[in-house]
Amino acid sequence: FDVSNREMFRPVYHFTPAYGWMNDPNGMVYKDGIYHLFYQYNPYGSMWGNMHWGHATSRDLVSWEHQPVAIAPDALGTIFSGSCVVDKDNTAGFGAGAIVAFYTSASDRQVQSMAYSLDNGKTFRKYARNPILTSTQRDFRDPKVLWHEASGRWIMILAVGQEMQIYSSPNLKDWTMESKFGEGQGAHGGVWECPDLIELPIEGTELKKWVLICNLNPGGPFGGSATQYFVGTFDGKKFVNESPALTKWMDWGKDHYATVTWSNAPEGRHIALAWMSNWQYANNVPTQQYRSGNSVPRDLSLYTSKGETYVKCTPSRELLKLRDKGTKKRSFKVDRSYNLDRLLSDNTGTYEIEMTFKNKNAEIIGFQLFNSKGEEVEIYYNLVDKQFAMDRTKSGDVSFSKDFPAVTLAPIEGKDEMKLRLLIDKSSIEAFGDDGRFSMTNLVFPSEPYNRISFYAKGGSYNITSFTVYNLKTN
Ligand code: FRU
Repeated sequence: FDVSNREMFRPVYHFTPAYGWMNDPNGMVYKDGIYHLFYQYNPYGSMWGNMHWGHATSRDLVSWEHQPVAIAPDALGTIFSGSCVVDKDNTAGFGAGAIVAFYTSASDRQVQSMAYSLDNGKTFRKYARNPILTSTQRDFRDPKVLWHEASGRWIMILAVGQEMQIYSSPNLKDWTMESKFGEGQGAHGGVWECPDLIELPIEGTELKKWVLICNLNPGGPFGGSATQYFVGTFDGKKFVNESPALTKWMDWGKDHYATVTWSNAPEGRHIALAWMSNWQYANNVPTQQYRSGNSVPRDLSLYTSKGETYVKCTPSRELLKLRDKGTKKRSFKVDRSYNLDRLLSDNTGTYEIEMTFKNKNAEIIGFQLFNSKGEEVEIYYNLVDKQFAMDRTKSGDVSFSKDFPAVTLAPIEGKDEMKLRLLIDKSSIEAFGDDGRFSMTNLVFPSEPYNRISFYAKGGSYNITSFTVYNLKTN
């Protein structure tokens, strides 16, 4: 097969499969300096089907090496999402330091299976006594396994219809149900999928809280797929949500789904990756050889605002290494409009913009990013409604699905000084506001890179006190 790249929309610093279809990132695990990424993969075509676990490795989270398929279908079914752990104390008896993978075997029923690798993820052997967990429920999948230090046991969290089930085990093979979570909690507009359970530090304190990540499809805030989360306590048996009345979204765009974190990441980091698409149109986006990429890796932490605790998503620091020296503008004032006619002299659609807005009295602070074909993305802060918005209705090719053209909105605090970082990579825009207090991820399919920007103000004026554009390049 020919895997040379014939795709104008293929991102550069986001992971994509060389060919074929990808959905959820799964089984991410770090061991001996290598970040392993496994993913839902169809090697036979660029639409969903024939699920395998694809595999790629990286030392820096931004440049990836393709590896052979890790786990292929068998008599129990195709290989759906799941997770990996490093069994350093050999609790399962496969060998100390084995990478143990948990996945859903999907046929006319869904059951949980496991496989293990004794060569650092190069090859996997399936456990001889699969499946390890069965159920009569139809949607029963996406096992996330973690070590719970305080109780000295392994925990598995599973997505089952519209709830999560929590199991425990001393040896990764025998599992006991501990509790269920879901009724009356968060959004229920669709099926719950791809759970994760992590303990995160609260910025500026010595405290930590548990976060249960719950992907939901459909039922996202702008239709289709999205990631919600719950903050609370976990004692090794039961997760308790501290704010059952609130729904918290991890990202406010349309293309951020199946978010899970790396197991065993160094320095206590919690690094998340999302599938950068939406089940509403993922099979129809205008790429050919492959379909779908992942989000940039994001380090998760917690912050508190008005007594509530939220997840903050910071693009992983490895991304900073992709920047060239950058083009800076002097600060300027916007009272009606202000144009920058050329963002970069060699814009290949792979860049970052970092800017700081200092508001005087504007009600709307906004800009259009546009190209010479009349395609544009409009981004604005509405300080009256306290919202941040991204409008991709005129962003380029939006014709492949009626659900694609959209305006997505995130709630903001609306301070006088606001920082915004845009990570753009051919066919995606990831916006991070106020150091990751909100993020918004949207795909776009422009026929050439947006290389101009036009700022506007409504109801008053503001200053842009810093503005830098960086070309981003992997080596
Ligand atoms: C989420 C999901 C998972 C499932 C996988 C199948 O996008 O539906 O629940 O394991 O995709 O590919």
